[in-house]
Amino acid sequence: MAASFSNLSALFYVTFFVSCFVHLSVNVEASNGGGGFTVDLIHRDSPLSPFYNPSNTHFDRLRNAFHRSTLRAAHFKPTSTSTPQDSIQSRMIASAGEYLMNLSIGTPPVTILGIADTGSSLIWTQCEPCINCYKQKAPIYNSTRSSTYKAFSCDSKACQALEEPPSCTGVCEYTVFYGDGSSTFGDLAAETFTFGSTSGHPVSIPKVVFGCGRDNGGIFNESTSGIIGLGGAQLSLVNQLSENIHGKFSYCLVPPFNATSSGVTSKINFGTNATVSGSGVVSTPLVSKTAESFYYLTLEGITVGNKTLPYKSSSFKSKAGVNEGNIIIDSGTTLTFLHQDFYKGLESALVAAIGGAKRVPDPQGTFKLCYATKGHDFKVPTVTFHFTGAVLDLLAWSTFTKVQDDLTCLTIIPTDNIAIFGNLSQVNFLVGYDLVNKKVSFKPTDCTKV
Ligand SMILES: *[C@@H]1O[C@H](CO)[C@@H](O)[C@H](O)[C@H]1NC(C)=O
Ligand SMILES: *[C@@H]1O[C@H](CO)[C@@H](O)[C@H](O)[C@H]1NC(C)=O
Ligand SMILES: *[C@@H]1O[C@H](CO)[C@@H](O)[C@H](O)[C@H]1NC(C)=O
Ligand SMILES: *[C@@H]1O[C@H](CO)[C@@H](O)[C@H](O)[C@H]1NC(C)=O
Ligand SMILES: *[C@@H]1O[C@H](CO)[C@@H](O)[C@H](O)[C@H]1NC(C)=O
Ligand SMILES: *[C@@H]1O[C@H](CO)[C@@H](O)[C@H](O)[C@H]1NC(C)=O
Ligand SMILES: *[C@@H]1O[C@H](CO)[C@@H](O)[C@H](O)[C@H]1NC(C)=O
Repeated sequence: MAASFSNLSALFYVTFFVSCFVHLSVNVEASNGGGGFTVDLIHRDSPLSPFYNPSNTHFDRLRNAFHRSTLRAAHFKPTSTSTPQDSIQSRMIASAGEYLMNLSIGTPPVTILGIADTGSSLIWTQCEPCINCYKQKAPIYNSTRSSTYKAFSCDSKACQALEEPPSCTGVCEYTVFYGDGSSTFGDLAAETFTFGSTSGHPVSIPKVVFGCGRDNGGIFNESTSGIIGLGGAQLSLVNQLSENIHGKFSYCLVPPFNATSSGVTSKINFGTNATVSGSGVVSTPLVSKTAESFYYLTLEGITVGNKTLPYKSSSFKSKAGVNEGNIIIDSGTTLTFLHQDFYKGLESALVAAIGGAKRVPDPQGTFKLCYATKGHDFKVPTVTFHFTGAVLDLLAWSTFTKVQDDLTCLTIIPTDNIAIFGNLSQVNFLVGYDLVNKKVSFKPTDCTKV
């Protein structure tokens, strides 16, 4: 895969793909009018999800999510110690995806429930006839029963757009390995995808390139049928629909307590519905790197109260000042991870700003800065992230979250890998990705109301 190429050849590789595969995009049918649509994201812990476990308390769910988040972050690993900020070895853990997208494929249509993932790009679903499919509750899509299924040959552009080299036996066969050892193998094919939109009118899109997964294994759950890749590489859903949705998608994540208590769903928007505009919008450039699936931003510094700390570390390679693309924005990682050299200074600044409140260790060891909250509150200073061109005041409750009845902890933790801007920090912001103009925008929003 791209991350294992040397920097120079990887640069050519990226340029080549961008110039040769733009016309892979397909047309949204005319019935959709404006070229924009919005679908519900079903959170795995919401009562709408097949994963819902009513006996878990809110704090159980939070702890479980933190655990899954740490597992996932451990897999955003650099390929070698010489380029700690530049390359990434493996993708998300297949089971860690938390948002599910409900759509149907084929003619006649078959419903699939895929994990929406901004950390990988290929869309795939289990596909009969299977060599080896994991147990799935819903019926598995059968490619021989669909009149719109068409497999790609090896010399097709779609086949050459795969991030990992295909194997070829006449038809184009893809393989994806995930960080936890899960994998999928099958035929690269085109099919009609139908999205149920929040407007009630289904949106049908023909000739979407996807993986017809005939040999799938690992820790996939029987409630899901595959993955919907929303990453930055050519075959991701977003890039395939780019002509119609203009390379735009956005999401608005509701606070975890709202998602689990009232079943309010987060939304994902595509195309014109994904435009982030109006007052309070700030934007920062997307930085291209060799691991095309990930979305990189540049973090210049963080302000705590009135003290600004430049985001740098002795281990960063850059000669002067800021290291471009030094942080990944991810929808599937809960916590925010910052380089440990920098983290120490951040923690000291927070401790100083908070003053006399009683600091206690996290009994489970995940969090580094916690305060006892039983009976007394402490005042959380404003924490401001300075991305290039975008100044973002984080919400106090998402920066310091109650992780159990008597304990409130900082949801930013140190790492010696690439930094990640996690989803808790993104809650109640409308977050818009624009792959054509290469930027990410943020707008403070009550996501329970959109
Ligand atoms: C799949 O999810 C269900 C519901 O949360 C859970 O009970 C089950 O153990 C999961 N299966 C696997 C293989 O993880
Ligand atoms: C963030 O991601 C984690 C892990 O994938 C998930 O469990 C959690 O619910 C997500 N949180 C939000 C607020 O979307
Ligand atoms: C997915 O959509 C189909 C068709 O609209 C519906 O029957 C099914 O219940 C939905 N599944 C979930 C988990 O929402
Ligand atoms: C798939 O569909 C074909 C054609 O209808 C049928 O012969 C075959 O048995 C189906 N396979 C499975 C596993 O359902
Ligand atoms: C676009 O978003 C609006 C609300 O923001 C919604 O009412 C409308 O149904 C969405 N359009 C589609 C096609 O989903
Ligand atoms: C979200 O949760 C907060 C805090 O519990 C509550 O005040 C608010 O009413 C909830 N909003 C919705 C739409 O459920
Ligand atoms: C920063 O804030 C603290 C506490 O509000 C204040 O004592 C200090 O003078 C401020 N420093 C600067 C440089 O404004």
